[in-house]
Amino acid sequence: MPANTLPPPAHIGVIMDGNGRWAKKHFQPRSMGHRAGARNFRTITRYASRIGVKYLTVYAFSTENWARPAEEVGALMGLFKDYLQEALRDFMDENIRVRFIGDTSAFAPELQALIREVEEASAPKTGMVLNLAMNYGGRAELVRGARLFAQAVERGEASPQDLTEEGFARYLYTGGQPDPDLIIRPSGEQRVSNFLLWQCAYAEFVYFDILWPDFKTQDLDRAIAIYHSRQRRFGGV
Ligand code: FPP
Repeated sequence: MPANTLPPPAHIGVIMDGNGRWAKKHFQPRSMGHRAGARNFRTITRYASRIGVKYLTVYAFSTENWARPAEEVGALMGLFKDYLQEALRDFMDENIRVRFIGDTSAFAPELQALIREVEEASAPKTGMVLNLAMNYGGRAELVRGARLFAQAVERGEASPQDLTEEGFARYLYTGGQPDPDLIIRPSGEQRVSNFLLWQCAYAEFVYFDILWPDFKTQDLDRAIAIYHSRQRRFGGV
């Protein structure tokens, strides 16, 4: 049962960091750290859905992660395939809708097919929306949004002088969703790392000195309690 008496924030973002250091600590290859991280992703996602989080956005693969050694990228791609297959079964039972944010066209055709399958199969689900950020970068998302807007102007469907912040947000992957209220980064790093750059404008950040594979459901409760202890002013007083 949730430890917090107050309801969780509607939208939580998580930067799943520290898999590599976890593997090193356990004298294992980095791929094993990602495997442990992927298992934990499942646990935390299920828990978030059960305690009533409406939107959960997790950073699984950034536009910069392609620069890692081919072996590590390959291991991550393998994990994505395994876990998306499991997600098909698992998250469906939990009434979770899975969406992908990022340029998924860069992935292998087999993975892209799986991504489409998961999105389509879970589209009718009415529970928590899980945004999986894969080949995602906040700057790339903003450039894509600007391009989509420019194309709409070219087609005569939009006009630059009528563009508002709300209107522009609709060109982002998260269009139509509320901005994250809380962003959690385990592992001790205190950086945004190109995650939800537009959407994080008023998010509360909580950093924990825990490696992602060790991040427990109690830590999510703790982050939510910290969130509730903060006073959000949205630029006011
Ligand atoms: C950052 O840790 C983590 C990643 C780059 C990958 C995150 C991916 C998963 C947890 C798998 C999720 C699976 C699915 C299906 C969504 P790091 O490698 O940068 O750790 P380090 O900073 O300790 O080296």
